[in-house]
Amino acid sequence: MRVLGIESSCDDTGVAIYDSDEGLLVHRLASQIETHQKYGGVVPELAARDHIRSIIPLVDDVIEDPANAGRKPDAIAYTEGPGLTGALLVGASVGKSLAMAWEIPSIGIHHMEGHLLAPMLESEAPEPPFLALLVSGGHTLLVDVSAIGSYTLLGQTLDDAAGEAFDKTAKLLGLPYPGGPAIATVALQGQAGRFSFPRPMTNRPGLDFSFSGLKTFALTTAQNNELDQQTIADIAHAFQEAVCDTLTLKCKRALEQTGYPRLVVAGGVGANRVLREKLDTLMESLDGRVYYPRFEFCTDNGAMIAYAGYQRLRGRSTLNHASGTALAFHVRARWPLDSLATDNQ
Ligand code: KG4
Ligand code: ZN
Repeated sequence: MRVLGIESSCDDTGVAIYDSDEGLLVHRLASQIETHQKYGGVVPELAARDHIRSIIPLVDDVIEDPANAGRKPDAIAYTEGPGLTGALLVGASVGKSLAMAWEIPSIGIHHMEGHLLAPMLESEAPEPPFLALLVSGGHTLLVDVSAIGSYTLLGQTLDDAAGEAFDKTAKLLGLPYPGGPAIATVALQGQAGRFSFPRPMTNRPGLDFSFSGLKTFALTTAQNNELDQQTIADIAHAFQEAVCDTLTLKCKRALEQTGYPRLVVAGGVGANRVLREKLDTLMESLDGRVYYPRFEFCTDNGAMIAYAGYQRLRGRSTLNHASGTALAFHVRARWPLDSLATDNQ
């Protein structure tokens, strides 16, 4: 089965083709960082307009790429949610229209399931059951993955997502959007130990997170010190350490609770090298193994949506009832991951 995947939930237009026999054939991404950078964050209306401009040329590109050589796909998977409504509508309407024109089935995919399955595009794919840490701009989730499609939420953030905390802290330090990579870069020059940030919600039981206090801590630290280059680097360093230590400690707790020897990390913050070092060390100490997507598939991309589409469509005797060949479609700004098993079958 050959699946065309379309991702447009936020500020990246991603299009890719996954083939069940040959693996990932081709993927393309149009990043909107330049559009949003001057506003310090994603402007939803501009994101939707950028998706409109990019999406058809990207689809043309992957279809005509020598790896696909103009072949019509067998199905189309598009991101149905969660995300920005206007942005989602672009990918969903293009995916649905192409499916209608080509007379092939289409299916709406949960963006976080896409992230969760992204490490399976690598040569050494993790086998369920495993624990998944999903850390993106909009979500921070600890998920018990007993099988593909069977997800139990163990913990989540009560306020800001990890990526959101990176973005907001970067902004208050005068660093550019997106904040995660910006903080990671300046933190390399930071002096360890000058500032010490709390590790929120680690000294009480449970697997939930809270990151908004760290952003406030960064703000008061910035206000109480002269904000020169070195101080910015020192705050970035202390903030990054606190976020990564907190995520690592909660992973340790969840691994102990589930007894799983495998950890899967995905989502934009999964590209953070300090986090990866800490999680590598943790898994070594537990005699377990950690799996990441390649760096470019940590952040939003079409490959993970094509792959998730394949996983949801495989084994169905007829593809036609997959999200139907019906013309109606909808997107979901909010969509809890653990409701998936029941409402997307
Ligand atoms: O998964 P993603 O591309 O989009 C969402 O689904 O939200 O994640 C984007 C988030 C942003 O908040 C960005 O600042 C963060 O991931 N991010 C990072 C790094 N690269 C991206 N955070 C920390 N360190 C990084 N290297
Ligand atoms: Zn994402």
